[in-house]
Amino acid sequence: MTLDLSNGLENVPVSFEGSSATLPKFEYSPDNIQGPGCTSDPSEVTLPGCSCLSRSCLTASCSCLQTHGQAYSSTGSLLNLNSTDSDYCSPVFECNALCSCSDLCSNRVVQRGLTLRLEVYCTGNRGWGVRTLEPIPTGTFVCEYAGEVISFEEARRRQLAQKSEENNYIISVREHAGTGSITETFLDPAMVGNVGRFLNHSCQPNLFMQPVRVHSVVPRLALFAGRDIDVMEELMFDYSGGYANQPPLGVPFSHDTNTVQFNKINGLQRKKCHCGAKNCLQFLPLDLSILN
Ligand SMILES: C[S@@+](CC[C@H](N)C(=O)[O-])C[C@H]1O[C@@H](n2cnc3c(N)ncnc32)[C@H](O)[C@@H]1O
Ligand SMILES: [Zn+2]
Ligand SMILES: [Zn+2]
Ligand SMILES: [Zn+2]
Repeated sequence: MTLDLSNGLENVPVSFEGSSATLPKFEYSPDNIQGPGCTSDPSEVTLPGCSCLSRSCLTASCSCLQTHGQAYSSTGSLLNLNSTDSDYCSPVFECNALCSCSDLCSNRVVQRGLTLRLEVYCTGNRGWGVRTLEPIPTGTFVCEYAGEVISFEEARRRQLAQKSEENNYIISVREHAGTGSITETFLDPAMVGNVGRFLNHSCQPNLFMQPVRVHSVVPRLALFAGRDIDVMEELMFDYSGGYANQPPLGVPFSHDTNTVQFNKINGLQRKKCHCGAKNCLQFLPLDLSILN
């Protein structure tokens, strides 16, 4: 019998290739939740909506698209994949609960949730990982990296409390707010999270992360296919925020304080990368700023 890791909370089951005895201990949540130190509730509707009465919003008349630009094609693929025009990728805003357009508006993608059949399986040397049970075309929304949204102080406390051999799930995402200021979001799906918490790092990934705002100012960390992906391929993203040998676009980056004796920075041990890519940088990305 195939287990559904999401316990029916997603639109489609999340397969788990293992016995119930080996089920990882965490609470499944398809959406971000407010964790310690987080001042805004991710489930609260705080962004304004458009007054379009059309089935799908058009740039000529939609205040959402005029203010934030068109992020998706008419079929819901992310446009401007891996743009290198600037050091920071452009923020994506979808139509939201206050918009009067239909649920079928092409500016509603991440909010529709998981639609692909994914499977959590044992990779061998990378612990659990996620693979796809169906082909995924370039630009398709795959899943979110959802979990507890926490403050910098809480992220720092949790990170310092981690043992070197433990998995690190904390991701921090830095975005350019436009006015010269930087906004930073800290997300930890270790205790409460979705299928995204099982995605491993690759130095040559097939997914990339894009912060997307739907109803709330708190971004959702959405993962999109950076290339066409075949059935049974492992889904991976670059924890440092880069894609296909491109440097990080300002978002996101992660920090992994884990092991390997001979590579120490400021006393922190780095964990050996087993992504298997030709261009593997040998160690998982490590963010030190959180520990300053
Ligand atoms: C977000 S979790 C990914 C899921 C994890 N593999 C599990 O079993 O739950 C991140 C952790 O997975 C492991 N990991 C991820 N990518 C890896 C890689 N390329 N090589 C080795 N370990 C990796 C590391 O222990 C890292 O701290
Ligand atoms: Zn719309
Ligand atoms: Zn709208
Ligand atoms: Zn690697």
